[in-house]
Amino acid sequence: MAKKVGIMTGGGDCPGLNAVIRAVVRVGKEQYGWDILGIEDAFHGLVDLNLASPRGNRWLDLADVRGILEKGGTILGTSNRADPFHYVVEDGQGGRRETDVSDLVVANYHKLELDGLISIGGDGSMAIAQRFVDKGLNIVGVPKTIDNDLGATDQTFGFDTALNIATEAIDRIRDTADSHDRVMLVEVMGRNAGWIALHAGLAGGADAILLPEIPYRLQPIADMIRHRRRRGKHYSILVVAEGAKPAGGQVSSLQRQLGEMPRLMGAATRVATGLSELIDADMRVTVLGHVQRGGRPTTFDRVLATRYGHRAAQLVESGDFGNMTALRNGQIVAVPIAEAVAEPKRVDPNGQLVETARAIGVSFGE
Ligand code: F6P
Repeated sequence: MAKKVGIMTGGGDCPGLNAVIRAVVRVGKEQYGWDILGIEDAFHGLVDLNLASPRGNRWLDLADVRGILEKGGTILGTSNRADPFHYVVEDGQGGRRETDVSDLVVANYHKLELDGLISIGGDGSMAIAQRFVDKGLNIVGVPKTIDNDLGATDQTFGFDTALNIATEAIDRIRDTADSHDRVMLVEVMGRNAGWIALHAGLAGGADAILLPEIPYRLQPIADMIRHRRRRGKHYSILVVAEGAKPAGGQVSSLQRQLGEMPRLMGAATRVATGLSELIDADMRVTVLGHVQRGGRPTTFDRVLATRYGHRAAQLVESGDFGNMTALRNGQIVAVPIAEAVAEPKRVDPNGQLVETARAIGVSFGE
């Protein structure tokens, strides 16, 4: 009998999700003859099997994945508020509360008679996947996120596209910064990891890069701007990770909403406000935001996502559950999901990349 395999995308979307889905469906159908269930909106689709909006769970055919390789987003929908262990429900008194509906997910998985589930997601999704592995579900993970902060893999797909978008934005901002002799602050995503800021900052020739991993002070940044002026450079580019924080301070964020991660917001504006007290400069802040998450995946991400999808299908077919596909030294390998979520991957303040940046004169606000 044909195997029944579910596939879902979880957490924040990123370019390359569709490329993974396409590879899984092609390999699953053509090589193994599976029935493949596309699950809508991450675990929402396994909590409520009749989820209607906008498309609902559905069996995927080759025709469903035609022409999606180069498309951003995900044809399955996603959510970063779909943790069945902390599921948000109405509390019956006009409010909402978090509850554990994980047993319902397990029951629905068996009701659907799934032999396996491919969960494409970041650290949050992998942590949830591991908890379901512990509850006996057959899950294979695929690492995605623009943040590149998932452990056990050299790279997540989506990261390359995001940092290319950020680099292009910095290039554009440099032109106008130069024309107006301005200090331009570019805030990039990455949550509590500075990978996008560091790579895009280096690639875009930033004068300062502020990372979550290196708490900053404002005075050295003001000094750097003055130093550049003395050398005839009347503009400066500061790349600020959304999770950057001042020495001894906290990240800039909104209050956490039920079922959500704290929303990071305001890091670059805070730096600009602080700097304006130390230096007379015409400053502007650009927050790149979700622009970094959309659009066509780069060729690198298309290839990586396709390789991940192929390997994930192989792992399901061979029954190697509880694993995540990973890129290591150019090879796609399987690593325990537990290893991937053990520790987030952060920028090493004393690592080679930071050392190179320091050597070429980039300020980290130290
Ligand atoms: O994890 C990906 C990411 O884009 C982070 O870089 C960012 O902090 C967060 O998701 C934004 O989430 P949301 O889409 O809920 O605003």
